[in-house]
Amino acid sequence: MTRHLIDIESLPPGDAERLIARAAALSQGAAPRACRGEIVQLFWEPSTRTRVSFEFAAHRLGLRSLAVDPERSSSTKGETLEDTCRTLAAMQPSALVVRHAEPGTPQRVADALAGTGVAVINAGDGSRAHPTQALLDAATLVDEGLDWAQARIVLLGDLRHSRVARSAFALYRRLGVPDLRMSGPSSLLPDADDPAFRGVARIEDVDSALADASVVVCLRIQRERIQALSLPDADSYHAAWGLTEARASRLQPDARVLHPGPVNRGVEIAPDVADGGRSRILRQVRMGVWLRMAVFEWVVGAAESTSSA
Ligand code: CP
Repeated sequence: MTRHLIDIESLPPGDAERLIARAAALSQGAAPRACRGEIVQLFWEPSTRTRVSFEFAAHRLGLRSLAVDPERSSSTKGETLEDTCRTLAAMQPSALVVRHAEPGTPQRVADALAGTGVAVINAGDGSRAHPTQALLDAATLVDEGLDWAQARIVLLGDLRHSRVARSAFALYRRLGVPDLRMSGPSSLLPDADDPAFRGVARIEDVDSALADASVVVCLRIQRERIQALSLPDADSYHAAWGLTEARASRLQPDARVLHPGPVNRGVEIAPDVADGGRSRILRQVRMGVWLRMAVFEWVVGAAESTSSA
């Protein structure tokens, strides 16, 4: 069996919970599974934490990771994305890790690789999905002892263009979080009928949205996905919609602040909040390695159980 991780919605029942629990266990010292093989990373968009944490995760499991730079590959000579991926798959890696600006690209790659036994892991496709970010955020909160049944989770900022938000809400719905909220300028909130935000309260007043929150996730403005946008300067944006020091000081005493990164300090979050006691930003980064190890174990374990059957 070949397992792909394309989005939260297509994960089989129970697998999201298993991946989160496995990442939390690895972070607490559980022994990683020994794996053999190669991983290819294909990032058509820039990345720091996702790409490097996939590399670290592969190395810690004994997998070799090779990064192919699309700008320096034969895709610049007219080769289609499918042919590039089929060529790489012909060298029989265990998985391709794919990031692309075009929504749906990881599924396209998975379709092109049908029958090869090579897994596809989505590292972010446009504003559609970023499943490993959602899973690592959830694992960070499990590590903190958060009770999903009591959680009140607010995502703040540019939700309209955010793949993190879409995957996060898909996951939190699956985990049974009863109180999901979003807040930000109306031009950066999604269309009212966007199904990815089903069941999420839309609260334009930031202070009301933050009241009694247990988790606040700040999101940067995704300028690379916005054609034209009229927004105030950074200081005015911060005052109106950012997690300022004053707003953070009014949060519940045990409220946690997350940010998937990269952080735009002084815009969606105050520098002292990003570095302060509520912030779990660097814990998220650390959990990213454990979670991606769990994903590789899940992918390679499925392939091995097929080949030994
Ligand atoms: N959170 C996230 O995807 O960050 P990078 O773009 O640095 O990978």
